[in-house]
Amino acid sequence: MWLGIFTSFIVETTVISYHRQMNMQPKKCFVTKVRRNGNNLNALVCVFLVGVFARLLAFTFPYYALASISSDSLPEGKPLRQGACATVHGSSRLSTSAENSRRQEAERVKEGMSYVYYITSCPRAYDIIRERIQFYISQDPSQAAGLIHLFFHDCFVQGCDGSIFLEMWAVSEQNAASNLNSLRSSSFHIIDNIKASLEIACPRVVSCADILALATRDAIFMVGGPWMPMLSGRKDSLTAASKETIIANIPSPAMGFMELKHIFASKGLNVEDLVALSGGHTIGQTHCSIAASQLVPIMSSDISVSYGANLSRICLTQENSTSSRSHLTIHLDGLTPNTFDNAFFKNVIMKQVIFHSDAALLDDDGAAFYVHLFANNEAEFFQRFRLSFVKMSEIGVLTGNEGEVRLSCTMPNT
Ligand code: HEM
Ligand SMILES: *[C@@H]1O[C@H](CO)[C@@H](O)[C@H](O)[C@H]1NC(C)=O
Ligand SMILES: *[C@@H]1O[C@H](CO)[C@@H](O)[C@H](O)[C@H]1NC(C)=O
Repeated sequence: MWLGIFTSFIVETTVISYHRQMNMQPKKCFVTKVRRNGNNLNALVCVFLVGVFARLLAFTFPYYALASISSDSLPEGKPLRQGACATVHGSSRLSTSAENSRRQEAERVKEGMSYVYYITSCPRAYDIIRERIQFYISQDPSQAAGLIHLFFHDCFVQGCDGSIFLEMWAVSEQNAASNLNSLRSSSFHIIDNIKASLEIACPRVVSCADILALATRDAIFMVGGPWMPMLSGRKDSLTAASKETIIANIPSPAMGFMELKHIFASKGLNVEDLVALSGGHTIGQTHCSIAASQLVPIMSSDISVSYGANLSRICLTQENSTSSRSHLTIHLDGLTPNTFDNAFFKNVIMKQVIFHSDAALLDDDGAAFYVHLFANNEAEFFQRFRLSFVKMSEIGVLTGNEGEVRLSCTMPNT
């Protein structure tokens, strides 16, 4: 009997600490480190406290601990205070929502996804991804925007299956013609680089689709956004999407509300998801060519006069050639360009957004309700963004025997 207790203690402690690494919020100590560039003592103390807590939890509630593997990680609770070093272990949850999430999760686990998918095959994967992203974000926080944008484009075309990496490869020759090269090449490099590290740590195990999903999740958190527990186990597609599929599935900034609603609905995302996910435009940049189409020949009524003047000053002062505009960029969120917060919704209300598709969120009463809700309450936004983003991260995933784990993200294995 003692042996049994001892064994279960060891097993659960191990499982818990893996679980913590993979899906628990890496805690503010971690963020402090990124943001303040140092403060290792704080980080150490926090790691220690989290460790003690995990062990205590394993010891006191062994069965709860095991159960938490399947039910935990679903978003709940409030955003953590800055600087706090508390954990979100075992936060109270409503029994119904816990049941629902457990049921949903059981289904997804059956489909071959799990919060601890790489626990035996590549336990370090989650840490490696997080450490690499921490490095890139500390060099340039705006890389978070590039990754989010890339992930959005992956998921909306053929599902979150890493096909975007092949697309780049497949259409690279027509690339110049197809659009303004709006996805950052640095984002592709980041994923390729992480893939290379993972191929060394555990060859042929971690898919490009999962790397992009987890890297984006980590990046959002590091620039101030919510922490989002996310399933892994995505496989990579064998084929790239056609150019037609890409065009049909990626919303255009000129679209009105009904068109946006339609595209999102085709991905299983509702109006609330559309509004919450549009909040992704709280970081990142757009090209002046897109801004210019809202400014000349006549200024769009989407944009306030004073903001329009600012946009013109930045985007139209250069020589008027299209080519110069396609190189110039401007922040999507003029208030807090590199912080993931709810400023986007304030911008929408103040008519300080560049895309018609963002301004159009006020054209529908249902959508406008959420714009105001999120503008007034960042916690509401984060709560909803978590759910919507996790939904997006599971669109059309390939699991189990579907697809493959690519050796190199840019081409299929055979
Ligand atoms: C609702 C429909 C959407 C439209 C019409 C749209 C359109 C655009 C456009 C036109 C750009 C600028 C591209 C460029 O100038 O190079 C952009 C950038 C961006 N979008 Fe969206 N987007 C939409 C939804 C989303 C969603 C759902 C997310 C993620 C949650 C997202 C995240 C971003 C980010 C982070 C950037 C900045 C990229 C960077 O700085 O590299 N967008 N979007
Ligand atoms: C316009 O730019 C000025 C100077 O950068 C800034 O102070 C002001 O807040 C901006 N106004 C709007 C509406 O963006
Ligand atoms: C640039 O375009 C604006 C608006 O179309 C026009 O008023 C201005 O004269 C142009 N500037 C140059 C240098 O062509």
